[in-house]
Amino acid sequence: MRLRHHATIALLLWASSCVGYDHQSALDPAGPQAGSVHGLWYLMLGISAGVYVVVVAALLLVIRRRQAHPLEPDETRSRDREARAKRVVVIAGAVTVGVLFVVLLADLAVARGLTRLATSPALTIRVTGHQWWWDVEYEDSIPQRRVRLANEIHLPVGQPVLVKLQSHDVIHSFWVPNLAGKRDLIPGHHTETWIRADRPGVYRSQCAEFCGLQHAKMALYVVAEPRDQFDAWIARQRTPAVTPNDTLAIRGKGVLESGSCALCHTVTSTLARGLVGPNLTHVGSRLSLAAGTLPNTPGYLAGWIADPQTIKPGAQMPPNSLTPEDLRALVAYLSTLR
Ligand code: CUA
Repeated sequence: MRLRHHATIALLLWASSCVGYDHQSALDPAGPQAGSVHGLWYLMLGISAGVYVVVVAALLLVIRRRQAHPLEPDETRSRDREARAKRVVVIAGAVTVGVLFVVLLADLAVARGLTRLATSPALTIRVTGHQWWWDVEYEDSIPQRRVRLANEIHLPVGQPVLVKLQSHDVIHSFWVPNLAGKRDLIPGHHTETWIRADRPGVYRSQCAEFCGLQHAKMALYVVAEPRDQFDAWIARQRTPAVTPNDTLAIRGKGVLESGSCALCHTVTSTLARGLVGPNLTHVGSRLSLAAGTLPNTPGYLAGWIADPQTIKPGAQMPPNSLTPEDLRALVAYLSTLR
């Protein structure tokens, strides 16, 4: 029974990794930094496995020899034996230091290679960690061309991207296992990391530093796509929110602007200008809700708006007691924001 349960979980994990939607693995590098970390991981695994085999073999050898020739009481203090034991300890110590030195050098070489990918980035993205979501802003010298979204990053395949990191509250950690190692976001301290995806795909990123109650529900999706698809995506993100034309969605826009939503969220070209929560201008186009907690479907969206505290206890968003008609209208409007 128990075995079957474990087999089912293993099968589910394997299946979710195959779908690609939930792809999160440091052992399947899709970029140069993750590639070198992956190489270092295999080097360390190989060395550790080698050391383990040698130690266990030596232990078994000694046990067998002792069984064949048990020690006589007067033999234990012989000078010969003591000298031999000393030699073995010195050699083993020297080999251990040598092995650790090799690992240290490999580690330094990999760390050096990770610091910078190019002289200038093709794209600069500012990522701010909040309890418990990611604010994402695409920098541009022309303010109208800046793009703001949440919990999702799109980037063109094969291009070096500079990610500037900062925290709004506590320490978080930005980690896209398929692309690069971890980088901590420390309040009051700006830091940066580079990523480059050489393979199209959707890579899941998980906050890697315990940051409070909902640390586990603080994910971000990195979508790596061919240049033309990326250009189309960012052009769409730069447009203001669509104006609704059916009655339900028009009513939903009214609910958003007159209700408490507008105090915390921004939807460009509407009265909603809040800066506390995620920007919702193109929320309908996103993969997930509540930082990777729920799939982005109208049903989950309605549940999230009505009662976020049951889904993500402690999150900043309060429950909303809307009438069923208002809730349906609001969801219809938000779903049009693609
Ligand atoms: Cu943010 Cu853990």
